[in-house]
Amino acid sequence: MWAAVPVAHVAYSAVSCCRKRKERSVHSIVALFNILKKEESAPLTRPVPQHIAVIMDGNGRWAKKRGLPRTAGHKVGAETFRTIATYCKDIGVKYFTVYAFSTENWKRPAEEVQTLMDLFRRYLKEAIETMAEKNVAVQVLGDLSVLSEDIQQLIADCNEEAAKLEHPAIASLCINYGGRDEIKNAMRAIAKKVQSGEIQPEDITEDMISQNLYTAHMPDPELIIRPSGEIRTSNFLLWQSAYAEYCFTDVLWPDFKPEDLEQAIADFNKRQRRFGGI
Ligand code: IPE
Ligand code: IPE
Ligand code: MG
Repeated sequence: MWAAVPVAHVAYSAVSCCRKRKERSVHSIVALFNILKKEESAPLTRPVPQHIAVIMDGNGRWAKKRGLPRTAGHKVGAETFRTIATYCKDIGVKYFTVYAFSTENWKRPAEEVQTLMDLFRRYLKEAIETMAEKNVAVQVLGDLSVLSEDIQQLIADCNEEAAKLEHPAIASLCINYGGRDEIKNAMRAIAKKVQSGEIQPEDITEDMISQNLYTAHMPDPELIIRPSGEIRTSNFLLWQSAYAEYCFTDVLWPDFKPEDLEQAIADFNKRQRRFGGI
């Protein structure tokens, strides 16, 4: 706790110590002043990205390591999501987006898919009840048309509650989400406008494409975190991640703690983002 100790006192103690033990003298005092200098110049609060996205991965392996069914990993992973979403809001992250179920995850055994859908149901019900108190607008991104009717209704109720909030933090749950599917849908919407003569092909801009994605009106994520040791995007936010900074960690999602998020933010803050410049 350097900040709590008066600099002059630390310096004086260091000096008298140096006098007594000459062999440690010059090096230790130089090191100490370097530390103090660094501490003094460190910002009191670190900047946090405006939009953090997470590929929540490793639930199955977490469970397997403990001899538990994969579904147990998903249940603990859902708790981790609650903890990290709350933490993000508390440190001032405006947008927190998580990959919860991909367009490819339907390939999994029916029982596992069922457990995941039940967890979404439970979370959406909870979100509807607590959104106003937390001032976090929960939304679901993806092709929702194939989700069961009751889940679609919960999502609609969620949107209704979210619309009542003033300047909320935004938590986005990507369900039946695929980056390629999202771009394909955007292309279809734009193609229809061209077909009807509303716009010409030359009118298509990058911004128009962004505004036809599920994330329209949201800034692109600055930081994307993938736990579990896999180093790939798995079809997540393909368009939006063009200039995102990625952080990969071997920690499995159910074990992911606020400290791991802080580590990712610290790594992010050390990156030099050039966006093609110099
Ligand atoms: C992520 O954990 C959750 C979903 C993809 C729904 P996994 O279930 O992929 O866990 P691993 O990768 O098999 O360990
Ligand atoms: C990515 O994890 C999808 C989600 C986290 C929802 P997967 O476990 O499905 O990804 P792959 O199969 O390892 O690429
Ligand atoms: Mg996985």
